[in-house]
Amino acid sequence: MSFKGIEITPPLRLCNPGFQIVQRNARRFAEFRSDRASLFALSSSPLRSGLQLPFMTNHAQSRSSADLRKVIQRLREAGKVLVLTGAGVSAESNIPTFRGEGGWWRSRNPAELATFAAFEKDPKLVWEWYEYRRGLIANASPNPAHVVLAELEAPDREVFIITQNVDDLHERAGSHRVIHIHGSIWNVICLKDGKSYEDRRVPLPTLPPTCACGGILRPGVVWFGESLPPDASAHVDDYLRHTHIDVALVIGTEATFGYIGDWALRANRSEALLVEINPNPTVLSPYADVRLQGKAGEILEEVKKGLPLDAHS
Ligand code: OAD
Repeated sequence: MSFKGIEITPPLRLCNPGFQIVQRNARRFAEFRSDRASLFALSSSPLRSGLQLPFMTNHAQSRSSADLRKVIQRLREAGKVLVLTGAGVSAESNIPTFRGEGGWWRSRNPAELATFAAFEKDPKLVWEWYEYRRGLIANASPNPAHVVLAELEAPDREVFIITQNVDDLHERAGSHRVIHIHGSIWNVICLKDGKSYEDRRVPLPTLPPTCACGGILRPGVVWFGESLPPDASAHVDDYLRHTHIDVALVIGTEATFGYIGDWALRANRSEALLVEINPNPTVLSPYADVRLQGKAGEILEEVKKGLPLDAHS
């Protein structure tokens, strides 16, 4: 099969050994569902059975000093902390979110930029968007939210971060255990030989970039209609199955995708304190034990004041 004069081997394109992106029969993102459908996605999960729909109950609390004290106390005692982050955690590093004010999807159509069909149609256009974002991320610095999450790691407190973000700001802040469930903007995948590798060049020499084998490269991220990286989702599943989580922090995400809500609620079911940090309510808010309303950097700085944290080396 040829694509703009470059040979693509369908099995590699459809089932890349490095990334295992399966175009068909993939677990679908809930992105294009309406808000109501997203709620349904959450409420219809087997994990959610027996719970009321979010609009029927609201235990969410806005930020109060009692809430803050509760979170600090639980974090002091916690041995295992799960953190689910989304675009909002990088907003204070000046990286736009997707759906909020100034968000990418406010002015752009995801179907034209974040699907394999869009890439097949116009790889240069798609790469121009990624190239722009790579530049933004390369020049960004971790903000206090990333830093405090990294500082939360301690010999007796394990912090596991599952991020939907394709940036590397958690790692650059010093976090050691981070899973990128939507891939990494620094990874590329060759559509010809299937290899997946890191390429941090900004700018890239050509758009679309090509592999040494001559194949066209695609960004190593998860697009709409594609499955999550199987290794990463299996790792998350295994972790949730076998770990007694003390605190689950959900930070800066709309939780649009059902699996984010499911993971948070699974942690909560195993008795973790479920804490949402976000300036705005989300589909998950009604299920949070504590809602700390505000910007992640500001709130986590407040949390830090109550904790004995060592600065990260
Ligand atoms: P969204 O853009 O959907 O949501 C960002 C969330 O961050 C919103 O709930 C905001 O209220 C919140 N927020 C904004 N500023 C914040 C701040 N300073 N501190 C804390 N929270 C803040 O981003 P995600 O939920 O991460 O996927 O989106 C998930 C996925 O949808 C992305 O990974 C991307 C997108 O389409 C793909 O591209 C496949």
